Amino acid sequence: MTQQRENWSARSGFIIAAIGSAVGLGNIWRFPYVAYENGGGAFLIPYLIALFTAGLPLLFLDYAVGHKYHGAPPTAYKRLFKPMESLGWWQVMVTLVIGMYYASVLSWAGSYIYYSIGQKWGENTEQFFFQNYLQNADQLTFGFVPHLFWGLVLVWLVTIVILFGGVKKGVELSNKIFMPLLVILFSILVIQALRLPGAVDGLNAFFTPNWTAMKDYKVWLAAYGHIFFSLSVGFGIMLTYASYLKPKTDLTGSGLVVALANSSFEILAGIGVFAALGFMAYSSGLPVQEVVSGGIGLAFIAFPKLISSLGAGGDLFGLLFFTSLMVAGITSMVSILEVPICAFQDKLGWSRKKSVTIVAGGSAIVSTLLFSTHSAVTFVDIIDHFANNIGIVAGAFFSIILVSWFKRPLLKQLEQHINATSSISLGKGWEFMLTIVTPLSLLVALGLTLTALITKGYGDYPVFVQVIFGWGYIALFALGAFFFSRLKDHGHSGD
Ligand code: ALA
Repeated sequence: MTQQRENWSARSGFIIAAIGSAVGLGNIWRFPYVAYENGGGAFLIPYLIALFTAGLPLLFLDYAVGHKYHGAPPTAYKRLFKPMESLGWWQVMVTLVIGMYYASVLSWAGSYIYYSIGQKWGENTEQFFFQNYLQNADQLTFGFVPHLFWGLVLVWLVTIVILFGGVKKGVELSNKIFMPLLVILFSILVIQALRLPGAVDGLNAFFTPNWTAMKDYKVWLAAYGHIFFSLSVGFGIMLTYASYLKPKTDLTGSGLVVALANSSFEILAGIGVFAALGFMAYSSGLPVQEVVSGGIGLAFIAFPKLISSLGAGGDLFGLLFFTSLMVAGITSMVSILEVPICAFQDKLGWSRKKSVTIVAGGSAIVSTLLFSTHSAVTFVDIIDHFANNIGIVAGAFFSIILVSWFKRPLLKQLEQHINATSSISLGKGWEFMLTIVTPLSLLVALGLTLTALITKGYGDYPVFVQVIFGWGYIALFALGAFFFSRLKDHGHSGD
C-alpha cells in the first residue's frame, strides 16, 4: 500500500523541528561535560573546526539526499545508489539504540525536576545521584529499580503520543510549543548564572584556550565524536526531516540557521554551566577545575550542588535547569525515533500508527527494562560512547566516501539539486571538504577510537560488560544492516 508522504506545513516548521532535534541533551548535558573533560576552553577550537570541516558539509549532504530522494536513510540511499541501502539500515539501528538510552537520561532529568522542589538531594549530591536515585551497583546486575521504571514509562508515553500525531500535528506542533519555551527558560537560567559571584572565573576557565590540551588527539576525537550527535547528522535524522520538505526549499539557508542555532545554544549552555562552576569554586575556595569531577554526572551532581548553595531560591534554578533539559531532550527524542518509524513505513508499507506502535512500542519495552536496573548508568555510559564514536562516525564516514569517492557524479548531482533551490550555492569548497577533509578526519577519528578501545578498553568497566554492551551493539548494527536490507520491499521504497 503506497501512502501519501507527509510534509511540514511550511519551511519555518521544518527549521524549528530541525533546531528542536539538534538542540537536545547533547547541548545541555553532554557538551558541558565533554568540554570540561577535554580542557574546557581548549575544546572550543577543535569543536569549531569539527563543525566547519565535518558537521556542516555532512548536514548539507544529509539534506540533499533526504530532499531529493524522499525517504528515511534506507530508502533514500537505495534510490541514490542501491548498495547503500544497508548503510541506511545501519543508521536506523544506531538511532534505535540511541533512542533507548536517550529516554533514560531524559527520565533522570524529569525526576530531578521533582527533586529540585525542596532540594531533595540533601548534602551529598554525588551520593544521592548514584546511590539513592540510580541505586547503582558496583557489579553488573539487572535488579529492578521501580522509580526508574516509572520515569521511563512516562518519557516513552509522551514521546509516543507526539509521534502518533504524525509530522505536522505531532512533531511540528510539539516543537512549536517546546522550542520557544526552551529559549525562555534557558535564557533566564543563563542570566541568573552569570549574576552569581565567581561566574567570571568560570567563564575564564571556559574561554581560555589551553594549548597543551589541543595537542592531545583525544580532545580532537571528542570534538568530532560530539558534533554529529549534536547536529543530528550522520545517523539519518536530518536526512529524514529533509524528506518531508516540499520540492522548492532553500536547503543551505535552512541548514545554516539550524547549525548556528545549535552551536549558539551549545555555547550558551557551556557559559551557563561554567558560570555556575565558577560560583562553586568561589564558594568553596578551590580552583574551577577542581570543584567537581566531570563525566556523565556533571548535570546531575554539579548542578544540584550549585542549587543547594543558592539557598531557598535554588529551587527555581533547579526547576528551570531540569525543565530545560527535559524540554530540549523530548524534541530530539522524537526526531531520533522518527528515523526508524519512517524507515519501516517506507520499506514495509506500514501505516504511521502501525510503525509507531511497533517501533516505538518495542523500543520502549527494551529501554524500560534495561534502564530501570541497578546498572542503568553503566549501560548509558558504554552505549553512548560506542554508539557515538563508532556507530555514528562509521556510518557518516561510509555515507560520505561512497558518494564522494566511488560515485562522484552523484556528488555533482546532489550539489546541483541543492543549488537549484538554495540561497547559498555550494561548490568546490563543499566538494573538497566531503572528498578530503571530512572523510580523512573521520577515518583518523575512527582508527584512533578503535585502537584505544581494543588496546585499553573503555573506562574501568569489566571486559565482558564492554563486550556485550559496547561491541555487542556494534555487531547488532551490522546484523540489522544486513538483515533489513535483504527484506522484501512492501512499501514504496523499491520505486
Ligand atoms: N542532536 C541531539 C542532541 O544534541 C540528538 O541531543
